[in-house]
Amino acid sequence: MEIPAQDAAHMARAVELAGRGHGTTSPNPVVGCVVLDAGGQVVGEGFHAYAGGPHAEVVALAQVGERARGGTAYVTLEPCDHTGRTGPCSQALLAAGVARVVIAVPDPNPKAAGGAARLRAHGVSVTSGVLAAEAERVNEEWLTYARLERSHVTWKFAATLDGRSAAEDGTSQWITSPEARADVHRLRAAADAIVAGIGTVLADDPHLTARPTPPAGPAGAGAGGRKPLRVVVDARARTPQGARVLDDSAPTLVAIAEDTDTELKADLLRLPSDGRGLDLEALLKELAARDVVSVFLEGGPTLAGEFLRRGLVDRVVAYVAPALLGSGRAALGAAGVGTIGEIHRLTFDEISLIGPDVRLIARPATQPGREQ
Ligand SMILES: NC(=O)c1ccc[n+]([C@@H]2O[C@H](COP(=O)([O-])OP(=O)(O)OC[C@H]3O[C@@H](n4cnc5c(N)ncnc54)[C@H](OP(=O)(O)O)[C@@H]3O)[C@@H](O)[C@H]2O)c1
Repeated sequence: MEIPAQDAAHMARAVELAGRGHGTTSPNPVVGCVVLDAGGQVVGEGFHAYAGGPHAEVVALAQVGERARGGTAYVTLEPCDHTGRTGPCSQALLAAGVARVVIAVPDPNPKAAGGAARLRAHGVSVTSGVLAAEAERVNEEWLTYARLERSHVTWKFAATLDGRSAAEDGTSQWITSPEARADVHRLRAAADAIVAGIGTVLADDPHLTARPTPPAGPAGAGAGGRKPLRVVVDARARTPQGARVLDDSAPTLVAIAEDTDTELKADLLRLPSDGRGLDLEALLKELAARDVVSVFLEGGPTLAGEFLRRGLVDRVVAYVAPALLGSGRAALGAAGVGTIGEIHRLTFDEISLIGPDVRLIARPATQPGREQ
């Protein structure tokens, strides 16, 4: 599709605005909106900032008044057509007299979809698909959650340049720098849940809490004060009662097998097993049903390998330290690859320096959550 430069520029701004809601809108999507008057001047901008708060279109239109009449609205996600906690945005755009609406991505949620059709039915010109890839990216967690009815998974790991995540004796604190670890806390704070395997809980006794240090970077902006749910994947309920992950600093769910007898005093989630451990897709569906849109998977290598084997890793964030171990645990355990043809191919999307370390963000070459 040939996109006029004006449309691309305004939608790029709407995508940028949408990103400001990252980490605070769950279980809602992030959405940005730019409104032009009939003469093509930008008169309103908005984004959805928190669940229950006004939608991006409503925020932008509130600044505009009569100036939207005959104008154009750019929205990163199809305007909703249902009355949830706020009124339908399609109605708000009609009431404002907007003549044209440009949409990046259609709403996959059947309850909210229909906004474009309603606008068209009332004579509004609707263009869809403008900067769709960029708008998909900024909203990838929510789109995965809405399309697949499971939480979106970011697997994070820290490793040496030779791909080791622990030394031969099991020690791993710390491979990466304080700057990289602070970055991890910002990413954790923007997630709805932090997931770790029982192996990691027994080895490291982690808190799995988000303790971002101000000033927060873009990933954690506005996310301070949230307490992501902590989830331990622990078929046989081996989590020690005194484990830090069970303290009262954040809520915790211990996922155990349906047939495990246990005295453990914790919020337990019983799941079926699938021959290789707990059914991880069932876990993500259960979490989605509890409004967990985004999961930050902290390992360890065994659990991460099993998520990958099942096609349940949507994004990888790797912190690679300029250090070598030569032996010790690999960052990733068995992941269902027996021969080179079965390799898990990724695409690098972002490479940056965090202190002395490199942060790499990669995604599967084909993404289950994205429309192909
Ligand atoms: N550098 C890093 O970024 C990083 C991050 C985290 C951990 N680590 C290191 O990793 C090590 C621990 O990792 P690990 O591989 O031993 O343990 P892990 O991956 O944390 O936990 C694996 C355990 O989870 C349970 N489990 C339940 N369902 C499962 C499923 N479907 N698939 C896989 N596991 C399932 C299994 O125990 P049950 O059968 O008893 O349920 C399994 O043994 C520690 O040394 C830690 O320091 C490093």
